[in-house]
Amino acid sequence: MADNKRVCCQPERGLVLRDVTLMAGSTCVLWGASLTVPLSGMTLLSGRNGAGKSTLLRAMLGLIPLQAGEILTHGLSPAQARQHIGYMPQSVTDAALLLPAVSHVRVAVDGVRWGLPLRLRSRREEADRLLALTGASAFAYRPLGLLSGGERQRVGLAQALAGKPDLLLLDEPLAALDQAGQERTVRLLRDLTENLGIGIVLTSHETEALSGAVTRVVQLADGGLHVRV
Ligand SMILES: Nc1ncnc2c1ncn2[C@@H]1O[C@H](COP(=O)(O)OP(=O)(O)O)[C@@H](O)[C@H]1O
Ligand SMILES: [Mg+2]
Repeated sequence: MADNKRVCCQPERGLVLRDVTLMAGSTCVLWGASLTVPLSGMTLLSGRNGAGKSTLLRAMLGLIPLQAGEILTHGLSPAQARQHIGYMPQSVTDAALLLPAVSHVRVAVDGVRWGLPLRLRSRREEADRLLALTGASAFAYRPLGLLSGGERQRVGLAQALAGKPDLLLLDEPLAALDQAGQERTVRLLRDLTENLGIGIVLTSHETEALSGAVTRVVQLADGGLHVRV
């Protein structure tokens, strides 16, 4: 009955957690947590190191199962929602560091969406467009492992934008950046939210660099979530 109701009605916009219990290994990061929050603009997911921010982003993508409860993003389950989400993880695996930056973006352009794959030429053009958008064209053909932290962040952002997502989940996009790099990234993120209408959820400890740019803060603490506007 509840499922029928959901199909018939307008899906709830934003992020909804209902009685979510979530474990990372043997650590409980959420315990019966509920939350309803819009996802327009920029949402900062804050909390101390080890609070469970990265784990929650992965659960929103269905990469980690919940122990109890449900997560809906714009009315969709994590498995459905990830078709519409671009994700930039906190780190990449060592093997991936050998590939040129542009390969990461081309693979992502082919990506996670259903439908006919793009022609090789279109895929290359789209990857180049995304690398230009994030200011990463100059080092696109160097192995990812030889790039600085800031350069890798720009490649990661280009990769997350592949597939034209409605929502970006960015895990520590300002880490490893100097002040100028942080300001440039925050300008780019503002541009994505204000001009392209892409919602952004990001984790960061760089509250000063983000001041004025963030629409709302969701605090993860003691197994619960609290919204501050
Ligand atoms: N795969 C895992 N196995 C065991 N423990 C994990 C795993 N991933 C994360 N943890 C632990 O879960 C807690 C939350 O981690 P994380 O989500 O990375 O926190 P945050 O991103 O807020 O720093 C930490 O105590 C971390 O050590
Ligand atoms: Mg983290």
